[in-house]
Amino acid sequence: MALVSGSVRGIGLAVARRLARSGARVHVTWRSSAARADALSAEFEGRVHRADLEDEDETRALIEAVLARDGRLDAFVHAVGEFSAGPLATTRAAEVRRLLENNVLSAVHAFDAAREPLRAARGAALFFGVAGLEGLRGRREAAAYAAAKSALLVLVRSWALEEAAHGVRVNLVSPGVIPHEGAAAQTHDEARAARIPLGFAGTPEDVAAAAEFLLSDDARHVTGVDLPVAGGWLL
Ligand SMILES: NC(=O)c1ccc[n+]([C@@H]2O[C@H](COP(=O)([O-])OP(=O)(O)OC[C@H]3O[C@@H](n4cnc5c(N)ncnc54)[C@H](OP(=O)(O)O)[C@@H]3O)[C@@H](O)[C@H]2O)c1
Repeated sequence: MALVSGSVRGIGLAVARRLARSGARVHVTWRSSAARADALSAEFEGRVHRADLEDEDETRALIEAVLARDGRLDAFVHAVGEFSAGPLATTRAAEVRRLLENNVLSAVHAFDAAREPLRAARGAALFFGVAGLEGLRGRREAAAYAAAKSALLVLVRSWALEEAAHGVRVNLVSPGVIPHEGAAAQTHDEARAARIPLGFAGTPEDVAAAAEFLLSDDARHVTGVDLPVAGGWLL
């Protein structure tokens, strides 16, 4: 039984579909994309939930709804994570706060709510960073977003440490440039894709393949890692 948050489009949807194809019952979530959610209801047998994960109570209610329907939680994937770019000199504090609340606090709410059921199932959790977090290098592009994802990486490693004794694995997948219909405009830039060492942008399915591995028993000895899926971007 799996729950993928932020999953009615893009990477989250690709992960949800991949897990479903491998036989898991999968719950998907949306916040503002009602039409996409409606269109996916039959595919996910009604396991479609509206929740704003920046709201602690809504996040707790989401996990309770999942448990009420299926009784357990083996895998939690958090695909929420808004992006913004621009120099820090013109980035207002309110924008930094928005990125932290969306990328970091939503993850804290989700893991707090999912911790006990994941322990009960000796399950696994997966979060999304961004390529190039290793080394904590300064950035000219999307520095505030990278700072939020860096905070998330430290949380993921710390959750991995704390939860190891309970049999729960926690990992991060760090995509590079992954264009899709709903992705930020920057990901659709051909010049940017040409700067990727492998020479092409990745797809949501490329990221989903890595996610499926990290959630599977094949990765039973893997926890606390940051796995870039980025074609060598920012190596
Ligand atoms: N695409 C890339 O190139 C790329 C690169 C590096 C990292 N990543 C990371 O990979 C993850 C998935 O990326 P993506 O491109 O698939 O993202 P995306 O297209 O922006 O989709 C994320 C989904 O999260 C949902 N969401 C946002 N804020 C939420 C909140 N507060 N509560 C509940 N749901 C919320 C949105 O749902 P609604 O539409 O219903 O509002 C949205 O559809 C993110 O963490 C992102 O930062 C992506």
